[in-house]
Amino acid sequence: MKNVVVLVSGNGSNLQAIIDRCHQKDGINIAAVIANKEDAYGLTRAKSAGIDAVVVPSKGITDRSEYDDKLMTAIDGYQPDLIVLAGFMRILTPAFVQHYHAKMINIHPSLLPKYTGLNTHQRAIDAGDKVHGTSVHFVTEELDGGPVILQAEVPIFEQDNADTVFERVQEQEHRIYPLVIEWFCEGRLTMNDGQALMDGLMLGDAGYATE
Ligand code: GAR
Repeated sequence: MKNVVVLVSGNGSNLQAIIDRCHQKDGINIAAVIANKEDAYGLTRAKSAGIDAVVVPSKGITDRSEYDDKLMTAIDGYQPDLIVLAGFMRILTPAFVQHYHAKMINIHPSLLPKYTGLNTHQRAIDAGDKVHGTSVHFVTEELDGGPVILQAEVPIFEQDNADTVFERVQEQEHRIYPLVIEWFCEGRLTMNDGQALMDGLMLGDAGYATE
């Protein structure tokens, strides 16, 4: 069994997709869901699935290292093989990132390296992009900058707004994130020298893609 710890800050729709597709299947155990906010709906989703739901509150802690140390202690109690960031909206310290080197992944709502940071859907609309999407990547010290594993594209239409694009992107996120978790837990996916590898083969800038 591979132990997976999922970190969330909010709704947790990606968490739900991961629970539905991966939990207790094919050697994957979601050992815990940890949130930095006690009202994160992802905690309710975890409890409904019988998964440990833990809050490590960030409110009132201004020192990032102090918070990340607490978070590490909570995570390591579950002896995780993989840390999954699923809408965990905090910037992580280098010490935290190094501690989970090559075993922490994130999903970001843009076709990286485009639109790191926030408000990605509105920025893509404002730029007149016709194609947008989402990326799963290994986490490195560079914000939203680690090697891409898998991306999914969505169209942007004339009449779209940030909400309609958000929904279209999330639909794709729910497809690709569980798939990447399966790959990692099967031992097919690794990170070496800052590169993502699938079955030992280096992935390109857009990650694993089929024609
Ligand atoms: C997802 O769309 C994810 O791409 C985004 O937060 C959302 C969480 O939704 N993550 C980031 O913006 C990280 N930079 P969810 O809570 O419903 O899974």
